[in-house]
Amino acid sequence: MNKIFRHSFAVLNTAFLLLFTTQIFAQKISVRDLTVEHLVNPFSIDNPKPRFSWKINSDIKNTKQNNYEIRLGTSAKIDRVLWKATVNNDQSVLVAYNGPALSSKTRYYWQVRVKDNHGNTSAWSPVQYFQTGLKPEDWSAKWISVEGRDTAMASPLFRKEITLKKEIKSAVAYITAKGLYEAHINGTRVGNAYFAPGWTSYKDHIQYQVYDIKKSLKKGGNVIGVSLGDGWYKGRIGFANQKQFYGDTRALLLQLEVEYNDGSKETFITDNSWKTAYGPIRSSNIYDGETYDARLEIAGWNTYGFKENASWKPVQEIASGPEKLIGMSGPQVSKHEEFKALKIFKTPLGETVVDFGQNLVGWVMLKAKGAAGTKISISHAEVLTKEGNFYTTNLRSAKQQNNYILKGETEQVFEPHFSFQGFRYVKIEGYPGELKLENLTAVAVYSDMKTSGKFSTSNALLNQLQHNISWGQKGNFVDVPTDCPQRDERLGWTGDAQAFATTAAYNMDVSGFFTKWLKDVSADQLPSGSVPFVVPNVLNQSDAGSAGWADVATIIPWDMYIAYGDKGILETQYGSMKKWVDYITSVSKNNLWNTGSHFGDWLFYRPNDDNDGRAAVTDKYMIAQTFYAHSTQLLLNAAKVLGKADDVAKYTTLLEQIKAAYIKENMTPSGKLISNTQTAYVLALQFDMLPENLRAQAAQRLVDNVRDYGNHLTTGFLGTPYLCHVLSRFGHESVAYDLLMQESYPSWLYPVKMGATTIWERWDGIKQDGSFQTADMNSFNHYAYGAIGDWMYKNIAGINPVADQPGYKSVVIAPRPGGKLTAASAELETVYGTVKSSWTIAEGLFKLDVTIPPNASATVVLPKSDKKEQIGSGSYHFEYKY
Ligand code: BGC
Repeated sequence: MNKIFRHSFAVLNTAFLLLFTTQIFAQKISVRDLTVEHLVNPFSIDNPKPRFSWKINSDIKNTKQNNYEIRLGTSAKIDRVLWKATVNNDQSVLVAYNGPALSSKTRYYWQVRVKDNHGNTSAWSPVQYFQTGLKPEDWSAKWISVEGRDTAMASPLFRKEITLKKEIKSAVAYITAKGLYEAHINGTRVGNAYFAPGWTSYKDHIQYQVYDIKKSLKKGGNVIGVSLGDGWYKGRIGFANQKQFYGDTRALLLQLEVEYNDGSKETFITDNSWKTAYGPIRSSNIYDGETYDARLEIAGWNTYGFKENASWKPVQEIASGPEKLIGMSGPQVSKHEEFKALKIFKTPLGETVVDFGQNLVGWVMLKAKGAAGTKISISHAEVLTKEGNFYTTNLRSAKQQNNYILKGETEQVFEPHFSFQGFRYVKIEGYPGELKLENLTAVAVYSDMKTSGKFSTSNALLNQLQHNISWGQKGNFVDVPTDCPQRDERLGWTGDAQAFATTAAYNMDVSGFFTKWLKDVSADQLPSGSVPFVVPNVLNQSDAGSAGWADVATIIPWDMYIAYGDKGILETQYGSMKKWVDYITSVSKNNLWNTGSHFGDWLFYRPNDDNDGRAAVTDKYMIAQTFYAHSTQLLLNAAKVLGKADDVAKYTTLLEQIKAAYIKENMTPSGKLISNTQTAYVLALQFDMLPENLRAQAAQRLVDNVRDYGNHLTTGFLGTPYLCHVLSRFGHESVAYDLLMQESYPSWLYPVKMGATTIWERWDGIKQDGSFQTADMNSFNHYAYGAIGDWMYKNIAGINPVADQPGYKSVVIAPRPGGKLTAASAELETVYGTVKSSWTIAEGLFKLDVTIPPNASATVVLPKSDKKEQIGSGSYHFEYKY
């Protein structure tokens, strides 16, 4: 029965508030979205006490979990229960396994049921599973490589025929590589991941992937075929044209474990019985693209019974290195949206160019047929010049070019295997016959993160900004959070990642993505405690320790804890967080971090003409001191959560000293900062550097500065994420909106007005006269300035986490309308379920619809009202005169 009734009726000043509730009297509650370690039915769990999460479905208002029952076994029916627990509490997120020790390489099945506070019990959930990974001693496979030195640019193919003696019950393949691999069983591609095994701090650890391949195998003869590419391991990486950073030899490690129906087992491994030959991929490289010669395809090489000719050579076994093999803890990279070609045209320079309408990361799938030996080249660019020509100078040395050489006969669809490109436009050369729109499809390739957030407003430009932010994220979350996806860089710049992390966690579920990357942050942290500029670190060891970059070590673990309620991430990263703060202390004098080189407020606004006395240069050591405080504060927060009383005491004292030193060094007695910039005031206020009585005047100085620039921002990478937050916090909401709605340079909407479909690296990547900023640093897909997304979700839509109830167990819904918006709406899929906040202003009425998931609660703070409502789960409607 569906019933809507008026829940309460309240008078607010002169306006009045109507509060409705939608209540559906469902029969039952149920559980959904079961995960283990943030993942659905994962295959390589290394945590000896994996953590289980579930969400509750209930249409009954104010639903909480009172009790859960969980059970686990080794069969899909869970007939022999290995562990069960019945617990009276409301924990439904990351409940740790607490049974007998789990075996490696074993599949465990589990299910859960819950009781709510209304006396309802759910049915048992459908059975879910997870599989444990391999222990080091479980590996019997040998690393194999081509014979002799691995000097060829072409991709080697490896093959091995195996015979399965009986009908099989299960078959699992464990695969990894030094380089990148693509595996086939009996001619069928294994899985749909790209760039496996992913990019990690390879010198410390390499991930392996686990595939259930039972369906691809049959009793009798089977064949395994794998090709390898250079990837990040051996190929060109880093802007110094460096190659072979991790090693000069591509290698494959594969172990196939089969269980027959009669219970007997057999293992097949890579060893010196495999054979290798070179295939059609003549070269491949992350930056430069791939060259594929279809004439060199070896028909049938990955099918059983293929006759190996003399080009197939023995492989060599190579010794394993010191690196650990770990199961994959983040999402795989795979194909997502496809884009049709919108337009094929000739540029003024006479080149044939195709427009896909969206700056994206991935590649173009090209259909072609022509005479054998015909070479088609596809070059990629993000933008056209103002004259309309294809522009690649901003790619620096990255060629971003795929070449396909036709073999004649039939039509083929080409796509690269071990390279990706950042582009909106492609230039096609050598296409035989007429190039038609339908022969080209662009495919976006990025880490499999579920979309968790939706955000829209009544303002089309703002909606395009949100679109650009989310495409900036997709393009740069290709296994590692990168600065940019197109030029000869594409590195895990730590400053960019920390600036964008909270926004990222609104748009998509990045729990697994950052869990994986934080392992690299720890692994690449220097013995001194300093943190590299980029992770995985492919720069020099001394390229580390920049304020606002290295602080990623404290910032992202805390952000993930807040977004997903993952205390485990704080436990795992605590050592790294502490080492970073202790490092700063070790290089500080008198509690002042005034040593080292820093990027500062990177790419802040620089007016051409400084005659007016304007400049947005913020003293770098002043910035450093605020991040010293911020990191110490986050460490302190983590110490509290983890119950580390000694550290709480120690870092509380340190934090006071850091702030005192900041004031002594950087502030006049009347509260003026030595750098009179937006970023200076923003960081001082955001990180509570100033005594309470001096904060309002500092906020006013910030407002004056914004006004002085005609409602323009002047902040760079470090000030921008907090600019509007600080203005809102100190009561200057309308100034925050003035900045957000600003359409002229410098502003968030200027690129939107200039036709951007992603976030630009610079406020003026394309200048007002249509010319470009300096080509050596002008990416059109850089997410850092997209960090405004965090403010948009929190302030416009009003969805806020609460630090002491992380994971949105408790939510503050506090929309703050402004900027002439008449409507805004956002949705966030949290670990408890869907939170919604959606409002309109029309005909003098403010209307707000809020949804809070079961097992969570919220405080609703209504705008232009002193009213706060405490609500439990359910859907609520508020409206009042506004
Ligand atoms: C990158 C940035 C990065 C910066 C450090 C640039 O080359 O693209 O985004 O944070 O260097 O200063």
